[in-house]
Amino acid sequence: MPHPASPAAFDFLATRRSHPAKTFNGRVPDSAALEPILNAALRVPDHGMLTPWRILVLQRAALLRAAEIAQKRGQELGLDEVAIGKGRGQFERSNLAVAVISAPVIPHKVPSSEQIASSAALCMNIVNAAYAAGWAAQWLTGWVAHDEVFANQAFTVVAGQSVAGIIHIGAVDSEAPDRPRPDPARIIEWITQ
Ligand SMILES: Cc1cc2nc3c(=O)[nH]c(=O)nc-3n(C[C@H](O)[C@H](O)[C@H](O)COP(=O)(O)O)c2cc1C
Repeated sequence: MPHPASPAAFDFLATRRSHPAKTFNGRVPDSAALEPILNAALRVPDHGMLTPWRILVLQRAALLRAAEIAQKRGQELGLDEVAIGKGRGQFERSNLAVAVISAPVIPHKVPSSEQIASSAALCMNIVNAAYAAGWAAQWLTGWVAHDEVFANQAFTVVAGQSVAGIIHIGAVDSEAPDRPRPDPARIIEWITQ
């Protein structure tokens, strides 16, 4: 059979979930463990093979720097302490994160919406590859991801680019309850004729 079924892969996808990055225990993959995760994730659908994304691996020093930028930028924007803390906290708490930057090729006959969709698929691939390798992950954004100044200062994001996701990778000591999942019957419509 050219493409055999993989019950283990199917079970993985059918039961997959993320764990809140807040609950990570501090242990993270080293570069030798992270590389194959990112390499696997790069097998992502990409219309026109434009590679319209880039990946920043943020280790502890870079995360602390991002936390500082979030603090400063949050104050500049006049955000309240809670919002600033949220923006800063995801970096301050993290020991490893992968920022996926959407960098669409514009103009191009492949619409930028499709190129951005490929960036989102890359984020999901990183989450799945991290879990498949035995780690936990969570895809976060928040105001920091949407603020052009923060994105530029922290991730060198320039005009036309955007932060598709900040994927925190780590490990958990215990399971927490899953979140409610959508009812397939309310989402899926079978068009039979
Ligand atoms: C684009 C995007 C951005 C997200 N940003 C956040 C965020 O900033 N904060 C948050 O708590 N969850 C955020 N989430 C949700 C989590 O990544 C995740 O969906 C949630 O923890 C449940 O995950 P699961 O369905 O993989 O189990 C985001 C999800 C997506 C797709």
